Amino acid sequence: MNGVQRICFIGAGSMSEAMLAGLLKNRLITADRVSVFNRHRRERLTELKKSYGVQIPEDRGRAVSEADTVILAVKPKDVQEALTQWKTSFHRGQRIISVAAGISTEAVERLIPSGIPVIRAMPNTSCTIGQSATALCTGRWAGPEDLEVARRLFSAIGSAVIVEEEAMDSVTALSGSGPAYIYFMVEALEQAGVEAGLSKEIARQLSLQTLFGAAHMLMETREEPAELRRRVTSPGGTTMAGLEELKRKRFDEAVKSAVLRAKSRSRELGSLLGQEAK
Ligand SMILES: NC(=O)c1ccc[n+]([C@@H]2O[C@H](COP(=O)([O-])OP(=O)(O)OC[C@H]3O[C@@H](n4cnc5c(N)ncnc54)[C@H](OP(=O)(O)O)[C@@H]3O)[C@@H](O)[C@H]2O)c1
Repeated sequence: MNGVQRICFIGAGSMSEAMLAGLLKNRLITADRVSVFNRHRRERLTELKKSYGVQIPEDRGRAVSEADTVILAVKPKDVQEALTQWKTSFHRGQRIISVAAGISTEAVERLIPSGIPVIRAMPNTSCTIGQSATALCTGRWAGPEDLEVARRLFSAIGSAVIVEEEAMDSVTALSGSGPAYIYFMVEALEQAGVEAGLSKEIARQLSLQTLFGAAHMLMETREEPAELRRRVTSPGGTTMAGLEELKRKRFDEAVKSAVLRAKSRSRELGSLLGQEAK
């Protein structure tokens, strides 16, 4: 892939595995050019090597310094330790892509030598099946080529959009927490189906395929959701009766409050983590 010869993952958890699986599957890089290491769990590294053929470096500092792209995929609370540990291996000829939720590019920049481009990514849990909705933003030193590299890497595990860093709390509230809102909606649909007389299995299957079909309909037709809704709502029909009930119970207001509340929580947590990373 243009701009990427060697990738080093710091952290070998589910995020790193999702990314490396996507990159290898999409042939953006070959396994001999990908190094992965973690903190303690040697057996996890053996597992990744066995499944994907990636490199498990003996000399970790060298793996970091030889990579043109370093993916920082440790928990937010471990960012400071991980960056401090490898600080002397970082240099200006590389870029760092951090997926640590809530950690600003500035916090990362403070922990590494000056001038190294940093990209911050906010994927979501659907990355594990290659369907992440990821948002990317740049730090002080990152340029268009760094952003393009990150966009291509994250496109291998779903879709990626580019935003200003100040929008990251909103991204976290919408697509970061979003899968849980949708799971909640499915739980509610399923329960309602059971109360309406269906078996749990049938209610689940119908709910899931309805969700899947509606998502595909939106993505493939590119129509406005309101327009698709209008088309399936005949005056005086069953859908209209159901939608009126959702409006009466302020479904749209509940969704809005959920996103805004999650956004303010993301801000609160971000400022706590920012303090820790100082
Ligand atoms: N998973 C998701 O769907 C998702 C979505 C959005 C954002 N994220 C972000 O992605 C990051 C990683 O999440 P995850 O789910 O992959 O976490 P995880 O499964 O807990 O993995 C974290 C990894 O970091 C390693 N690690 C910790 N400290 C280290 C250090 N000092 N040096 C090297 N490796 C170190 C751990 O090694 P040991 O196991 O040996 O301790 C482990 O392999 C988090 O910051 C999270 O906010 C994840």
